[in-house]
Amino acid sequence: MFIGLDLGTSGLKGILIDEDQHILAEATAPLTVSRPHEGWSEQAPADWIVATEAVLDKLAAHGLSGVKGIGLSGQMHGATLLDASDQVLRPCILWNDTRSHEEAAELDGDPLFRRVTGNIVFPGFTAPKVMWVGAHEPAIREKVAKVLLPKDYLRLWLSGDHVAEMSDAAGTAWLDTGTRDWSDDCLAATGLTRSNMPALVEGSAVSARLRDSLASRWGMGKRVVIAGGGGDNAASGVGVGVVRAGEAFVSLGTSGVLFAANDGYQPDPATAVHTFCHALPDTWHQMGVILAATDALNWYAGLIGRDAGQLTGELGALKAPGRTLFMPYLGGERTPLNSASIRGAFLGLEHATDRQAATRAVLEGVTFAIRDCRDALAATGTRLEHLLAVGGGSRSDYWLQAIATALDCPVQVPVAGDFGGAFGAARLALMAATGAGAEIATLPRIARSVTPDPALKDAFTAAHARYRAAQSAIAPF
Ligand code: XUL
Repeated sequence: MFIGLDLGTSGLKGILIDEDQHILAEATAPLTVSRPHEGWSEQAPADWIVATEAVLDKLAAHGLSGVKGIGLSGQMHGATLLDASDQVLRPCILWNDTRSHEEAAELDGDPLFRRVTGNIVFPGFTAPKVMWVGAHEPAIREKVAKVLLPKDYLRLWLSGDHVAEMSDAAGTAWLDTGTRDWSDDCLAATGLTRSNMPALVEGSAVSARLRDSLASRWGMGKRVVIAGGGGDNAASGVGVGVVRAGEAFVSLGTSGVLFAANDGYQPDPATAVHTFCHALPDTWHQMGVILAATDALNWYAGLIGRDAGQLTGELGALKAPGRTLFMPYLGGERTPLNSASIRGAFLGLEHATDRQAATRAVLEGVTFAIRDCRDALAATGTRLEHLLAVGGGSRSDYWLQAIATALDCPVQVPVAGDFGGAFGAARLALMAATGAGAEIATLPRIARSVTPDPALKDAFTAAHARYRAAQSAIAPF
């Protein structure tokens, strides 16, 4: 048996699979985000541990004595700052926190970073956050001995070892993404050295072993290995079999991601496309990332006091976009805008804008932002023939129809089951424990394919053009 743990933004999910990859049990524990100031987004690492304990307690009800490996997946980019005794120095600054936009712009202005990392230094990435702490919390910065990504902090708690893996490390702005090693130059440019970084392994390799005390607490045997794992998007890629060029997925989670696997390393930072290592050796991937997908829907649902599932459930068949436009930039945007300051908007409100019209506008706005990601990927030469749909938002058929039509690309829905980061992490655990490789990261069985609606394609293209015009119009605000 193998366990996959996915440390998401809104909750931690655990999954237990057998040697044939059948899901034996699943468990979740919620997490909340604290936003003490405009543009800030933080979590206390202690809450991740509480959630992990709750999830493992639930999985333990199924008997964990046969577990051979644990894999880790997690929200990327967060800066978990530890002192020399591994004590957490401040709340983790998360992936969707944009406070360090000035530091990010400064680092990005040094050609070293794009050349070595293959990416823009976005404010959400880890390096500018450490610079921000240096400028605003110098007493904390002085004590920083190690910088860990969120799931790697879980690994430290599970094993006592400081280890990271390539896919998540690629989102720090400190990794030489082509050679898959820390860049001494990028580290030095931010006042750090390799000694401040965890060791690096591939996602499918053994990174550490579970502590004996924790193994006995949950009835696991000795020598349970912990796989490197992956950043949540790379781990989801392993979970849905998107590990070879030509395969791609759209993820509708708190963030929205359009992810394509690549054969080689093909960076193009000018497009705001992210080019990262995949969680398997010698593979890379590209992705466009928007900061609010279900985050935008949940914000709107909270605003009008309804449940998000009810709102999408009452929509019926796909309609041509109306006049109302929603811009989903609640906390700035990454691809393609790289703007920490842009904010969302409803435009074109009119008497006829009822609840359903506003819900459709929200789903369409996120859909157009994903179409922008598609255009950014296309500018690098990556074409999408079809997409798998993952993440909580993929439960909305209306949303999938809108995406298929706006991107003119069939969207495939896997058969019921969990194909997210937790499943990918469990697959990586299986690889680490047994020596299996990419061949076990098969594509899921497809329940149905949502095809573009030919009668509505032009209407979606015209509405996307209005959306692009609105981007420039709202930017100064
Ligand atoms: C990817 C990103 C998000 C988080 C969400 O670059 O920032 O997708 O990983 O968990």
